Amino acid sequence: MFATRDLNVRNLPPAEHSSAIFGAFDALKPGEGFILVTDSDPKPFLLQFQAGRPGRFEWNVLEAGPARFRVDIRRRATESPRSVTEYLERDHRRLDAIIPEVERLAGERSFPEAGERFAEFVCGLGRHIDAEEQVLFPAFEQITGMTQGGPTYVMRAEHVDIRRLMGEVSAALATADASGAERSIRGLLETLGLHNIKEERMLYPMADQAARDDQTRDDLVKRLQAV
Ligand SMILES: [Fe+2]
Ligand SMILES: [Fe+2]
Repeated sequence: MFATRDLNVRNLPPAEHSSAIFGAFDALKPGEGFILVTDSDPKPFLLQFQAGRPGRFEWNVLEAGPARFRVDIRRRATESPRSVTEYLERDHRRLDAIIPEVERLAGERSFPEAGERFAEFVCGLGRHIDAEEQVLFPAFEQITGMTQGGPTYVMRAEHVDIRRLMGEVSAALATADASGAERSIRGLLETLGLHNIKEERMLYPMADQAARDDQTRDDLVKRLQAV
């Protein structure tokens, strides 16, 4: 699932970044990827990907500064327009896959490495939640007219719990507290598991249905990706 090859452009002149990144991407086979490493926010490249290679790539930020940025860039196996459900469900599974690795590293008492992997989870889930709250939920509320007491109201409250639980796991790993890490990861997985099921079974399909056509759904996905 995760790319292992780094494309570090930090030692290249800025004028050469674009050709290095798009050259590397265009050489990928479907499903392959690399990790872009830069020292400035790579969002302008995301916008270039969206304009020049629409629907052909996955863009997952693993680290978002301030000194270093890392993005997992991958060529999609298909180039078809995506639904909200497809895009955000994939992100749930991508993030889920990090946790067993954190648990294994913490079990081996490799706390700095477990902390680094968990920081990628926090970065990814933090951005996922931001995208839901800033793009998906307002679009959903506007289309359906459901606000106070509706599904997005409940999801926003759960996001507060999820962020707090992520903070507890980070703190346990930072203090090499093995039993605290185990306990807090269990609590996080319980809350997150139920939250994700509700989103995947109800909210995402409702958002897709409300968006009506492929183009509107794909535009929503682009906006989610750009948060
Ligand atoms: Fe959520
Ligand atoms: Fe979600």
